[in-house]
Amino acid sequence: MGVDSGLPDFRGTQGFWKAYPPIAKLKLRFEEMANPRWFADDPEFAWGFYGHRLNLYRETAPHEGFSILREWGDSKKGGAFVYTSNVDGHFQQAGFEENQVLECHGSINHLQCLEGCGQRIWAAEDIRVEVDPDSLRAKPPLPACPTCNGLARPNVLMFGDWGWDSTRASEQHEKHQQWLAQSLNKNLAVIEIGAGTAIPTVRMNSESLAEGSDNQLIRINPREANAPKGSISLPLGGLEALQRIDATIKAKQ
Ligand SMILES: NC(=O)c1ccc[n+]([C@@H]2O[C@H](COP(=O)([O-])OP(=O)(O)OC[C@H]3O[C@@H](n4cnc5c(N)ncnc54)[C@H](O)[C@@H]3O)[C@@H](O)[C@H]2O)c1
Ligand SMILES: [Zn+2]
Repeated sequence: MGVDSGLPDFRGTQGFWKAYPPIAKLKLRFEEMANPRWFADDPEFAWGFYGHRLNLYRETAPHEGFSILREWGDSKKGGAFVYTSNVDGHFQQAGFEENQVLECHGSINHLQCLEGCGQRIWAAEDIRVEVDPDSLRAKPPLPACPTCNGLARPNVLMFGDWGWDSTRASEQHEKHQQWLAQSLNKNLAVIEIGAGTAIPTVRMNSESLAEGSDNQLIRINPREANAPKGSISLPLGGLEALQRIDATIKAKQ
């Protein structure tokens, strides 16, 4: 979904390195870079990667496809619910309410304390991280916990991450379950956009929602659109697919 707003995906090591040349020089794969150990071993490098992404996601406007989805949701009696592995907060930026979004890999716009001092997850709104683009290192002071002043980290699920505070995502899961309980067996349209196969959380979730029910899975993906029998498969980019469906709906009205 973010690709059409101009954001990089992390498709394969080459794709990741193209987006982050300083990481290419160090030959670190996405799985090695998105690892909580950097916050202990080299906090300025850890915050360089996440600070750069925080800044990039803040500077980037979500594309029109987000508004199209929101309009479709608003036009339905039961509304809509977003299930996303994106951590950029762009669904909320595009006008979705907090209580209709589940961010299964967490959010870069939220922070947690690395000391485990009891501070609850807090919003990164007031946080500024200056990153040197050549070395991808953040300049101190690094984000700190408002309670104990210890080092903070983004509330994003990383690889081998036993320290991720899942309380915010758990609350979102609960709201999603409640919404599903009201909406299930009511011909849900499950619109899956750009869900990859490398980390198939979103893909599996949409397949299981559609399986053995009246719900219809619509899989939009320019490269990996193969879908189970009974699904609609659209081998297109997210924005183009949404615009074309929307134009078809409007032409029929
Ligand atoms: N913006 C963000 O928040 C962001 C960006 C990159 C990665 N991540 C995190 O890293 C994880 C892995 O990321 P990844 O990039 O390797 O994901 P991925 O492995 O899911 O790959 C990206 C998928 O997007 C598809 N795609 C490419 N261009 C598209 C387009 N224009 N329209 C629709 N689909 C398109 C590809 O075919 C692929 O299936 C994600 O689950 C997420 O948690 C978040
Ligand atoms: Zn703390």
